[in-house]
Amino acid sequence: MMSEKPVLLGSNKIEQSFKLVKVEGPSVQRTLYFKIGKADVLPGQFYMLSHNGGQKPFSISHYDGDLIGFTIMDRGKCSKGMVDAKAGDWFGLTGPLGNTFTTTNHKSYLLIGGGVGTAPLFFLASHLQGTGARVDILFGARNSSYLDYSNTLIGIENYTIIQCGEDDSCAVQGLVTDSIEDRLKKHTYNTCCICGPEPMVLAAIAKVRDSIPSIEISMERYMKCGIGLCGSCVIDQIAARVCEDGPVFTLEELEQSKEFGNYHRNSEGIIEKF
Ligand SMILES: Cc1cc2nc3c(=O)[nH]c(=O)nc-3n(C[C@H](O)[C@H](O)[C@H](O)COP(=O)(O)OP(=O)(O)OC[C@H]3O[C@@H](n4cnc5c(N)ncnc54)[C@H](O)[C@@H]3O)c2cc1C
Ligand code: FES
Repeated sequence: MMSEKPVLLGSNKIEQSFKLVKVEGPSVQRTLYFKIGKADVLPGQFYMLSHNGGQKPFSISHYDGDLIGFTIMDRGKCSKGMVDAKAGDWFGLTGPLGNTFTTTNHKSYLLIGGGVGTAPLFFLASHLQGTGARVDILFGARNSSYLDYSNTLIGIENYTIIQCGEDDSCAVQGLVTDSIEDRLKKHTYNTCCICGPEPMVLAAIAKVRDSIPSIEISMERYMKCGIGLCGSCVIDQIAARVCEDGPVFTLEELEQSKEFGNYHRNSEGIIEKF
């Protein structure tokens, strides 16, 4: 007789409840902090956050060995509810999930982030502090209110941060990708890490691919379960689940997919072109 074994999920795949302890930032985008204590969390990983019946993935943007932070932009119903939450509110956290950026064997990084794609790169930059690596950071957003949280990276030894905005509230006015050539003229890099809207990611890749040998991209896809079970985040051709096999992929991996840079699936699984 066949015995049915229960599916055992690792403890990182079981939701735990935490009180929101601190909220920072303007109403359009806030960083939410939870006291999780000691945990093995690395740059690139994310958590599924649930609040008031909604659940969505969010990259880790901060971790100091005790408090973990998620930088959340008000984009829709679920994220708005989270951005409006107050200290003391309860959230469900499942994670850390997914893989990580490469943080070893590299001496010089160019980080390119757009919108909330800056969040995982902010954590990567914070994590690399003190390793001796050169870290140049290009962050782009609508205006400075979305990037103010990254001001703590200003003035770190071996670091340069260039904040680009659509208006004149940032140090540089223009697209984040417009600042890439200037960086490449001044420095050589071993690794480029990119996260943001896919058209921006493609534009960045076109500029760096001949100069930087290792390119890693953190991908965003619609996620339902976040733990590899539902298939909603699968990338065509390479059959990779972004939640389980990503969210960080090499350029070589993504270029085997016709989906990358062309389309994604919405919450109903319907293809939408970029
Ligand atoms: C690995 C990963 C990490 C993420 N990290 C962050 C983060 O650090 N900060 C942050 O603010 N957000 C992050 N997101 C996005 C976040 O999970 C939600 O998708 C976003 O907050 C919108 O959810 P919503 O329910 O508020 O909006 P919805 O009502 O679901 O959607 C609002 C609008 O956004 C579009 N949209 C929603 N989800 C996606 C998606 N995944 N890809 C493309 N378009 C989408 C919808 O089509 C709609 O137009 C991440 C997503 C992934 C997959
Ligand atoms: S979100 Fe369910 S498999 Fe990735």
